[in-house]
Amino acid sequence: MSKDLSNSSFSPQKKITTHIFRMKKQRGEPISMLTAYDYPTAMAIDKAGIDCILVGDSLGMVVLGYENTLPVTMEDMLHHCRAVARGARNALLIGDMPFMSYQTSIEEAVRNAGRFLQEAGMDGVKLEGGRARLDCVRAIVETGIPVMGHLGLTPQSVHQFGGFKAQAREHEAALRLIDDAHLLEQAGCFSIVLEAVPARLATLISQRLDIPTIGIGAGPGCDGQVLVTHDLIGLFDRFTPRFVRKYASLYDEMRRAFETYKSDIETGAFPANEHCIDMPEEEWQSLLGELGELG
Ligand code: KIV
Repeated sequence: MSKDLSNSSFSPQKKITTHIFRMKKQRGEPISMLTAYDYPTAMAIDKAGIDCILVGDSLGMVVLGYENTLPVTMEDMLHHCRAVARGARNALLIGDMPFMSYQTSIEEAVRNAGRFLQEAGMDGVKLEGGRARLDCVRAIVETGIPVMGHLGLTPQSVHQFGGFKAQAREHEAALRLIDDAHLLEQAGCFSIVLEAVPARLATLISQRLDIPTIGIGAGPGCDGQVLVTHDLIGLFDRFTPRFVRKYASLYDEMRRAFETYKSDIETGAFPANEHCIDMPEEEWQSLLGELGELG
């Protein structure tokens, strides 16, 4: 009889694995996931007991200021993944494969997926697409790298979609999405993100799959939920998708702090005595004496 030497409970103090993802689904326990791109945010998310951190290529929009995710490179991703890996101990860490890092050839996809684990401390990778990516998913999984799929509104195809729009609202597209989800499961994905698709379709897919679905704008029937952290904490105000719940307004708070800082400098309120470094009086007098002698 094989003995499970991994975590026996889901305490946030334990390292989350893809195996725990699957068990959570079987037990009907919702999976929590957030994005992070830096060390302090990863630390806060990890300490909050969130199951999974995705270093998403949303990095391009919410941190690097691009219009979409397409300009994000492997080097950008690895740099931010390393910072996240230094801040998180327990959450399952997933690196998002950027545009053109897995579409050109299977060999390149496998090599790039491997870099996320070997050079950046990730536990697995996520990539976008359904039937067109099956060989790629299979090859990466065969290398021993866990793969999370991503269906529905896949932002790397934004130009094909004509914008960031809800997907699979017509029955033909819905059928195709259901098929894609099954195909990704068969190809070896351990989980699938469903983005911006009708809630009842996401529920149906979640019921049909053995692997957990993680929804973003896909309703409560998914096995887990993910949000872009900068949306959740109100740090990215260019636009907020309808499906986001904002739990804080950190952009406003940050801006207020900067304005107060500027005003304190201008009025002389900062720095105050408590921010100054003291010099012992006798040292000061000696300095003045020596300066006096020097003329
Ligand atoms: O890049 C990202 O943050 C994502 C999530 C929206 C799932 O892919």
